[in-house]
Amino acid sequence: MIDTHCHIEIEDYKNIEQILENCKKNGIDKIIVSGYDLESSKEAVKLADKYDAIYATVGFLPEVLQKENSYDLNDLEILLQNKKVVGIGEIGLDYYWYKDNKEEQKKLFISQIKLALKYNKPIVIHCREAIQDCYDVVKKYSNLKGTMHCYSGSVEMAKEFVKLGLYISVGGVSTFKNSKNIKEVINELDLEYILLETDSPYLTPEPYRGKRNYPYYVGIIAEKISKIKNIDLKTIEIITTSNACKLFDF
Ligand code: NI
Repeated sequence: MIDTHCHIEIEDYKNIEQILENCKKNGIDKIIVSGYDLESSKEAVKLADKYDAIYATVGFLPEVLQKENSYDLNDLEILLQNKKVVGIGEIGLDYYWYKDNKEEQKKLFISQIKLALKYNKPIVIHCREAIQDCYDVVKKYSNLKGTMHCYSGSVEMAKEFVKLGLYISVGGVSTFKNSKNIKEVINELDLEYILLETDSPYLTPEPYRGKRNYPYYVGIIAEKISKIKNIDLKTIEIITTSNACKLFDF
């Protein structure tokens, strides 16, 4: 299996070998560390350089707009030269945290979509309370590859994103008792459009909710999908892994 989206943070560095060992034991042979600003993107690339099992995506989330001169797309282009950088992300729109700069957010999002097209890389989309705008932006670009990270929208929208060539990433929220949308999405969407992710250290799946999340919990998500779709676990593992390999070109 592959954890297609996580954030290994500075505090993990001292036990990162242990984390990778646990991944191996749990059948996870690759993890993708996602950047969201320049510093985290550089850290992700550093880790990817150091460890075989780790790959990186690099990108700027709308939060970089809060500080002046905190981002420069040229820096991303430099990082993109690294062979272990497999995509651009997290990028996207966040109207939950930032409501006053929607046009600026879209501009930043679009500039990184263009970069992805220039380098033929998939994008990892973060979209919070902005699904329609996100869709309207993305649908303007054909030949786009990517995934809706931590998808929380409706089944109908999920199908529209799939039509645009995107995958739907499923994480720990699918194991929460009160999550409804994502369970419906899992139920109705073909397995060939679903990716596994943990978004660790956030959104820890049940039964570990409230504690720290780790990439090696990605199997819990696979189990949940297996139960919801009533498809055997091995098939879930094989298909979602093959999806991730296709998208990130492994
Ligand atoms: Ni994330």
